[in-house]
Amino acid sequence: MSETSKDAIRFNIQDFLTENVSTIIPAKVIGISDFEKHQRVNVEPSINYTYPDGTILVLPPLDNVPIQYPSGGGGSITFPIAVGDMVSLHFSMYSMKEWLEGIGDQVTPMDARMFSFTDAIAIAGMNTYENNASPDPKDVEVKFNGSSFKLKSDDNGKGVELTTDANLTINCVNANVNTTNSANIVAGQEAKVTAPILTLDSITSITATTPIFTINGNLVVSGGIGGGGSGQVSTGANFVGDVTADGTSLKTHTHNYSIPEHIASTGPTGQPN
Ligand SMILES: [Fe+2]
Repeated sequence: MSETSKDAIRFNIQDFLTENVSTIIPAKVIGISDFEKHQRVNVEPSINYTYPDGTILVLPPLDNVPIQYPSGGGGSITFPIAVGDMVSLHFSMYSMKEWLEGIGDQVTPMDARMFSFTDAIAIAGMNTYENNASPDPKDVEVKFNGSSFKLKSDDNGKGVELTTDANLTINCVNANVNTTNSANIVAGQEAKVTAPILTLDSITSITATTPIFTINGNLVVSGGIGGGGSGQVSTGANFVGDVTADGTSLKTHTHNYSIPEHIASTGPTGQPN
């Protein structure tokens, strides 16, 4: 067989593959009108084909291409798709029409087409060298719109880091935070804990450092108040209401002035009554 004949066969095979067999190609999202309801987008393939005679084939846009997300066992990771996003298109071996219109069960296509340009699946996150996703070279990172979740490497301090420039909300049934060492909450403005019952348990001490400590409600103290074994208040106390000590009112108690020492002006009155 002559080289000319071999070239002719090669070109014929190339033409056949080009026109009939699709495999993988990058594309750009050009429409998302049916993304929210059906998880599908319109795309424009990003690479043209040049025939041996120099003619350029620009592949036509594809509408209603399903987007593939990682999911399984009832869990999934999803994210929005925007016009301009780059995806990779993968083309099914057989027609996907009936399967896409079903619920995932096995189907037999009406059309016997194979590797058709029509049967594209888009996988998000295809990037060029320059327009890439800026992956962290060491950490595992999930990021979006000013927020990020990082699983950090040994070289980068290890651990988990959750960062946002907005609000963080946790909704759950029960929440437990257990640390082997310290726990710190630092609030730039107000820190508030609201619960029907609030309990603080400490083995050694609880310290509150503040210019004013306000309690709106009754205060019950089982031990003493202040420092020392029996308790003391170092700088005084101002009570608007009465103070009762062991049944004796500070406001209404009386004294016995009849004891001899008092009458003789050489001693105190009797004990408060
Ligand atoms: Fe008195």
